[in-house]
Amino acid sequence: MNKFLVAPSILSADFSKLGDEIIAIEKAGADWIHIDVMDGHFVPNLTFGAPVVQSIRKVTNLPFDVHLMIDQPERYVDDFVQAGADYLTIHVEATKAPEDVLRKIGQQGVKPGITLRPGTAVSELFPFLPLTDLVLIMTVEPGFGGQSFMKDQLEKISLLRKEMERIGHSSLIEVDGGINQETASLCYEADVLVAGSFVFKQDYQTAIHQLKQKG
Ligand code: DX5
Ligand code: ZN
Repeated sequence: MNKFLVAPSILSADFSKLGDEIIAIEKAGADWIHIDVMDGHFVPNLTFGAPVVQSIRKVTNLPFDVHLMIDQPERYVDDFVQAGADYLTIHVEATKAPEDVLRKIGQQGVKPGITLRPGTAVSELFPFLPLTDLVLIMTVEPGFGGQSFMKDQLEKISLLRKEMERIGHSSLIEVDGGINQETASLCYEADVLVAGSFVFKQDYQTAIHQLKQKG
């Protein structure tokens, strides 16, 4: 792919007019909508649940890229599937049985994704790659928008590419956290970029257009 797909994170949107914000980022060229679900346990912050996802499903047909930062995500898979998720990504640290959860997601026709905290080795994901359509590399500690990009996580993208080649299974690679025009260029081996504050703090179309360019 010679351009990045861009998935603005609505965590940085104005929640008082969330529907309008989503329509605006769609018009501005967003490819996916990134939805950060936090439970106050897995991460020290609370956001929204399946009812909000279901409600915003009405305003756009763009793929919903749901990033679950919740403990035991198996408890909520059905809710997010029914709410209209297209990609459903779980943290490898959040469940005892990532394999079962990924299968459960896939069986319901939704694309399974897996991700990890910056402190977790990327090799922890390797056993589950064949069950995924998406692998998300976190370049900040999950929990909050507006943090600085952790360059030391970049190596994980190359290691992941190599492993995918070795096993003959390729999932989309997405990067999330601290993405701006400069840090995006460091992620050339990835396919999808998530960006919250960079998009929502300026003209949406300019920001999304800048992020899409590779190299
Ligand atoms: C962090 C979230 C990110 C966040 C990105 O826990 O997973 O998706 O919204 O925000 P920025 O782009 O501001 O780092
Ligand atoms: Zn996210």
